[in-house]
Amino acid sequence: MSQNAPAFGQFIARIGQPKLSNRGPGHSLGQAMAVHWCVQWSPGRGRACSRVGSQMGNRASQDVELYEEIGPWTEVKLDIIRKYAHAYSTILSAQERPPLAHVYVDAFAGAGRYVSRRSGELVPGSPRIALLTDPPFQEYHFIDIDQVKVRLLEEIAGKRPNVTVYHGDCNKILIERVLPRIRYEDYRRGLCILDPYGLHLEWRTVQAIAKMRTIEVFLNFPIMDMNRNALRKDPNDVAPDQARRMTTFWGDDSWRSLFYQKEPQLVLWGDQPTRKTVTNDDVVGAYLERLRKVAGFSYVPQPLAMRNSTSAVVYYLIFASHKAVAGDIVEQIFAKYREG
Ligand SMILES: C[S@@+](CC[C@H](N)C(=O)[O-])C[C@H]1O[C@@H](n2cnc3c(N)ncnc32)[C@H](O)[C@@H]1O
Repeated sequence: MSQNAPAFGQFIARIGQPKLSNRGPGHSLGQAMAVHWCVQWSPGRGRACSRVGSQMGNRASQDVELYEEIGPWTEVKLDIIRKYAHAYSTILSAQERPPLAHVYVDAFAGAGRYVSRRSGELVPGSPRIALLTDPPFQEYHFIDIDQVKVRLLEEIAGKRPNVTVYHGDCNKILIERVLPRIRYEDYRRGLCILDPYGLHLEWRTVQAIAKMRTIEVFLNFPIMDMNRNALRKDPNDVAPDQARRMTTFWGDDSWRSLFYQKEPQLVLWGDQPTRKTVTNDDVVGAYLERLRKVAGFSYVPQPLAMRNSTSAVVYYLIFASHKAVAGDIVEQIFAKYREG
């Protein structure tokens, strides 16, 4: 960050209160496009989709759109992204010697809009929040594996020449096509949102991002998917393909010895049973350690536990960066939500 960048304290003052918008400018899908889709079940987000045609004004009769419904914890995440994107983009835009081009990357971009379960209104998803960020980023890269969401993202992008929408697995697309556009020596920097539903983010991707040394990330650590599928109390209950997903996410097999131990009990014959012996906080703590020691991120603040209405942790929101000021800004933003 340059010396010309606004002081970090000023930023926090300016970040202000969360604000949810029901419909931003440019809310339009293709005239003839009637989109009917519903997400499959996903941990922590349920399978509810909402009919929002009635909110579409006089277009309701033309298009019936089904957007995924989000709980309050997802709205908190979106507020955090909004605040940080604004802070980040303001600092990077102010940098003069040398000027830097800053890029926004949404690797699990989604459809770009949701229905708030709280208010019943349409709210922008993370790609739309990025497009509304002022000052703007120089480039935007949105990736999703779902063809319908890709079409919706293309609608959101409109004719903007600096937005690229990709259809496919972000682990491959990031490494092959997006990261080469954010090289340190090209004076480019990036903010990357890694927000899967479950264990879809591969460790090799996280490592490749860290190696660039130009990119800050928000990462959804999907503890609920992990516990339901890959980190069962009894390891014999874990299907081999779920264990493989965990290994791809974790980067190696070390999670087995970290999280499972022989039970300290007297066994007269046979093997001592092995059981999971750790808490959610231990699991995320071990991943933070990997982000610092294996991937090489210098600043990884304590994550924010995102809880549902019954107070169960749905996922942890992690931030990782090579910049101290970035870590400080996120600590300040997280602190507001920890208090609440
Ligand atoms: C939680 S949603 C993203 C929400 C978005 N970040 C937001 O807040 O508006 C996760 C998205 O990841 C997509 N997805 C799942 N696996 C993927 C993969 N391997 N590559 C790219 N997208 C993927 C899903 O289709 C879904 O749209």
